[in-house]
Amino acid sequence: MTDAAQPEYKGPQRVFSGMQPTNGLHLGNYLGALQKFVRLQDQYESIYCIVDLHAITTGPDPENLASRCREVAAAYIAAGVDPQRSTIFIQSAVREHTELAWLLNCVARMGWLERMTQFKDKAGKDAQRSSVGLFDYPVLQAADILLYKATHVPVGEDQKQHLELSRDIAQKFNNDHNAPGFFPLPEPLIQGPGARDHVAA
Ligand code: TRP
Repeated sequence: MTDAAQPEYKGPQRVFSGMQPTNGLHLGNYLGALQKFVRLQDQYESIYCIVDLHAITTGPDPENLASRCREVAAAYIAAGVDPQRSTIFIQSAVREHTELAWLLNCVARMGWLERMTQFKDKAGKDAQRSSVGLFDYPVLQAADILLYKATHVPVGEDQKQHLELSRDIAQKFNNDHNAPGFFPLPEPLIQGPGARDHVAA
């Protein structure tokens, strides 16, 4: 299957998504996302990540982090993500996420990140006191996606801007290196009420 919108990208169609190991996981909060993950594994090679490196951008809380990661992994499996067919893993176990994030830091522009509304919301009034990691969060997210050359990314509406940034980074990388189609430009599959589903059921 090739994507008409991306004639230059010749690689396989692949799904990637991530979830933070946030405190107090309630399956209900995740049901919409997880059901989508489950459906997508029938159509695509699917990779589902537990993004612990994103979780530490707002505070370390190391004590619970490992058990929270396991809770998310359990929720993936309980919801029907099949570890035989899909890949489930913890972000920090694959060093290349941070390595690619650094390379992409040198591609992304300050102005692009300064426009990110989620950073502004999370940083609040005193952005000067937020971690550099929180500011750079969207570049790590781009690295997550581009590391696997994922073509489709199921996310909530709130992640749309981060996906656009991932596309911008991929495009600039491809242009700067004169390598059209090296990275695919990842397509968001927005879930949630009223969201359009880009994948045929
Ligand atoms: N930022 C996403 C969220 O809060 C989590 C995430 C991290 C992610 N890396 C990702 C989602 C890569 C999709 C693809 O929901």
